[in-house]
Amino acid sequence: MSIKGKYLFASILLFILFLFSCQLEPYSKGKEAYEFYCASCHMKDGSGLAALIPPIAGADYYAQNQEKVACIIINGLQDSIVVNGKKYGGKMDPIALTPIQITNIMNYMNQSWGNNIPVKSIESVKKDLEKCPQ
Ligand code: HEC
Repeated sequence: MSIKGKYLFASILLFILFLFSCQLEPYSKGKEAYEFYCASCHMKDGSGLAALIPPIAGADYYAQNQEKVACIIINGLQDSIVVNGKKYGGKMDPIALTPIQITNIMNYMNQSWGNNIPVKSIESVKKDLEKCPQ
């Protein structure tokens, strides 16, 4: 093979590796943002913290209230909620994120830690945000 041919071959190989690495971690943006904004409370693995912070991994409340999650992030939550049969009455402060960041984080959470919840589009997150309780 000529030098040029070898370079071409190496470039194609690198490109395939690059595509493959994106496949391995399709929600890397959401993971990064989750770990920055949410993991301090909900933990890196979404398991929550004892009786204080509800889980997101395997959480019935999370799976059943998908259209409320964007508002929970933007407005915070101070309510008495039941997650997987356990009562939580803590307080989550509002976190100012854009619809794109919310979509990335939700899609990471929906497809991580054993969660298998359909992914959200930015459009549906924007619609959810329009319906936030004032
Ligand atoms: C300072 C701690 C803290 C941070 C940071 C935090 N949360 Fe929460 N979160 C809580 C608490 C406490 C509750 C329960 C509030 C209640 O009982 O009303 C909660 C509730 C929730 C719920 C509803 C309950 C459930 O488990 O399904 C979701 C969804 C949620 N948080 C998502 C997030 C996301 C996404 C982020 C990051 C963008 C985040 N939270 C950041 C403390 C936090």
